[in-house]
Amino acid sequence: MAQLWGGRFTKETDKLVYNFNASISFDQKFYKQDIRGSKAHVAMLAKQGILTEEEKDQITEGLDGILADVESGKLEITSEYEDIHSFVEANLIDRIGDAGKKLHTGRSRNDQVALDMKLYVRDEIDETDKELKELLLALQKIMEENVHTYMPGFTHLQKAQPVTLAHHVGAYFEMFRRDRERLFDIRKRMNTCPLGAGALAGTTYPLDRAYTAELLGFDAPTRNSMDSVSDRDYVIELLSAFSTIMMHLSRFSEEIILWNSNEYRFVEIDDAYSTGSSIMPQKKNPDIAELVRGKTGRVYGALTSILTTMKGIPLAYNKDMQEDKELTFDAIDTVKGCIALFTGMVSTMQFNKANMEASAKRGFTNATDAADYLVNHGVPFRDAHGIVGRLVLLCLDKGISLDELPLSEYKEISPVFEEDIYEAISMKTCVEKRVTLGAPGPDVMEQVIAQNKEYLEKN
Ligand code: ARG
Repeated sequence: MAQLWGGRFTKETDKLVYNFNASISFDQKFYKQDIRGSKAHVAMLAKQGILTEEEKDQITEGLDGILADVESGKLEITSEYEDIHSFVEANLIDRIGDAGKKLHTGRSRNDQVALDMKLYVRDEIDETDKELKELLLALQKIMEENVHTYMPGFTHLQKAQPVTLAHHVGAYFEMFRRDRERLFDIRKRMNTCPLGAGALAGTTYPLDRAYTAELLGFDAPTRNSMDSVSDRDYVIELLSAFSTIMMHLSRFSEEIILWNSNEYRFVEIDDAYSTGSSIMPQKKNPDIAELVRGKTGRVYGALTSILTTMKGIPLAYNKDMQEDKELTFDAIDTVKGCIALFTGMVSTMQFNKANMEASAKRGFTNATDAADYLVNHGVPFRDAHGIVGRLVLLCLDKGISLDELPLSEYKEISPVFEEDIYEAISMKTCVEKRVTLGAPGPDVMEQVIAQNKEYLEKN
């Protein structure tokens, strides 16, 4: 049991208490960030004359050595230490002796852990953003290739109006683009450095907090030391943004599961991204999409958990906050894993364009256009709605589509109909006449795709 604080105690910590309290099993995940923060802290201490240049060099070299040895596997992080901070400090003292004991001058584990967590979250925001960009590139490619691929658009999971695959996928492009913007906003808001806040009330050393902040790539130091050590808003914001990403992935997964079903047959998931059944030889299951949908609950759980943990904590640091780590790490690994797998799955998926188009032709997806035809010939929309409703009923009775109904029968219900009705309600017209910005019409869709391309080049 290696602890940093034995002096005031006369008894050993109970073993169970030690284990319950220790965080090394999980906070070892940010050993890199811990070392990075310590190096900046020491550089600042030397600049301020609190440490000598020689001490700084010794400590820096020692820290670099620890980092290299951990990375190479030569030095193992073990549960003998209470947390990653103790591990690094104890190893430093082992390596360089007394100078190592000065590392923690003007610092508390409270501002140290606040810093480590921020550095870790910031790094992971950047990683997640890269993955989201890969996903957007995959979606953009599908959009470019499918501006003329007709499919039914749904409301209430009932066929509504025809759209294109580019248009449908474009909706997800927007969602994941907003997700990136959300991460960007969080990164900007959280980018202040807590180091120098001490345990809660700052320190009496003449620290240059702006310098440390700058060394670590922060925009500025934090403005209130009590808030610095007890702020986990950025964790909550991250988990909220992550929950939204998972919600988007989950909705898309649900669609892919439907599209991949025997009833739809809109897509064929690649063999490499499907699994079989141990008993039913014919099966090819969309497990990846299902798992992504399933793991959404786990990320929502992390958000609920941290919100609940934080709600009753008085200022400033309390040990409850140690609970932020496992759930955040798990959510980060889950979200990154899901985005990467999902990207692989959608970019290898085959679209059965003929099935999509055939499906769009069934289900009266052109009924609105038939009503619009009447409106264009002077019939008030509400009357047109009623007329086409009666036509649909007639077709249902005959088991045919609006395209198949003879003109004479159209005319029996409304004399306004002429031969050009068939052209007006063709799939091509239905889609291609929808040319307002954001609609599936190919011309306007091409414009959106060009805008997406520009966005992806810049961001
Ligand atoms: N492992 C602790 C955490 O994650 C580090 C801070 C410890 N501070 C303290 N006052 N016990 O929050």
